[in-house]
Amino acid sequence: MPTEKDIRKFDGPKTPFYYYDTDMLNRTLESVTSESAKYGFHVHFAVKANFNRRIMETIAGHGLGADCVSGNEIKLALETGFKPADIVFAGVGKSDTEIGYALDSRIFCFNCESVAELQVINELAVAGGSVASVALRINPNVDANTHSYITTGIEDSKFGIRMEDLERAVSFASESNGLKLRGMHFHVGSQILNLNVFRNLCVRINEMLNWFDSRGNFIDVINVGGGLGIDHSNPDALPPFAEYFRIFGTMLERKPHHKIFFELGRAITGQSGSLITRVLYIKEGENTSFAIVDAGMTDLIRPSLYQAYHKIENITSAVGEVRYTVAGPVCESADVFARNIPLPVTRRGDLLAIRSAGAYGEVMASRYNMRDLPGSIFSDEAI
Ligand code: LLP
Repeated sequence: MPTEKDIRKFDGPKTPFYYYDTDMLNRTLESVTSESAKYGFHVHFAVKANFNRRIMETIAGHGLGADCVSGNEIKLALETGFKPADIVFAGVGKSDTEIGYALDSRIFCFNCESVAELQVINELAVAGGSVASVALRINPNVDANTHSYITTGIEDSKFGIRMEDLERAVSFASESNGLKLRGMHFHVGSQILNLNVFRNLCVRINEMLNWFDSRGNFIDVINVGGGLGIDHSNPDALPPFAEYFRIFGTMLERKPHHKIFFELGRAITGQSGSLITRVLYIKEGENTSFAIVDAGMTDLIRPSLYQAYHKIENITSAVGEVRYTVAGPVCESADVFARNIPLPVTRRGDLLAIRSAGAYGEVMASRYNMRDLPGSIFSDEAI
């Protein structure tokens, strides 16, 4: 956890800002790489979780690949040290320009979500004289038991190819000159802490492997997606990588030629980032005291959008205990980070750390109310 001293050494930067703990990030990456290496797995970082350049460079430095969902993410991944052969391109609505850019960049594989998309990738690849490797995103109908906005693998979700359309997608991908069918892709949701969800996913993947085998289709890429959650009530804890990878290592009926890909976002950067904000006012409400802070939903939207819990700590003061509702300055009733939480006696000028904000924090910031975007600082930056 950042201390007031850690923050002050930056000579009072303009709050709010994201504080990234480099040591925590490196420890997380070491755990991911060593636990996944036990099974020869390939881990791609889901860039959407955090596209801060330094974070990206650090992750590339640990040898992970990149899972991108836009042409701009591919460009940034290339700029920050990821090799084209380690980049996959996912997303339900890839534009022609983005597909063209990905083909020109010679990325490893497109994760495709519909027959219509396969047709466009094929046309563009043929026109440019190349062949696109594709994995088909299959909707596995496995419930992630997480917030409905971040559940993706159940029926009627906009993501993935339905079982009814799979036959057609496989035939098209196998018969088109501009496409090479490499494999299948899954992703059931995000912030998944019940690891049984991944056990269910493995069962489903094995069924699909048999399905491909029975049709005589050769595939060598199995992309199991991401989704491993983090413990928001214990922001200093690493995610349970050992158990997570063991599930896939023991349950997947894998053949020697199969490459197993993961696309983890939150589990890689989530615990390394805190949003640091300053208390502007203490204000008495009818049934609660408000700590009005200078960060708002524009800096970290997760509590407002998903009712997400982020632990909040007062890093200036540790005396006493009072309950506060911590709210931001944005003109929306939803601009509240936490209601009625115990904090030390808090005063104007105190710094609060909103923890576990290293994924889907900085990247989802907006300029609503014409607010400035939050800055970022790394724990090892020169004083
Ligand atoms: N692969 C695909 C195809 C995805 O859609 C996602 C996340 C990931 C991988 C990475 O998932 P992760 O390992 O980070 O759970 N803004 C939301 C989360 C949206 C996740 C979208 N897809 C939040 O703040 O909770």
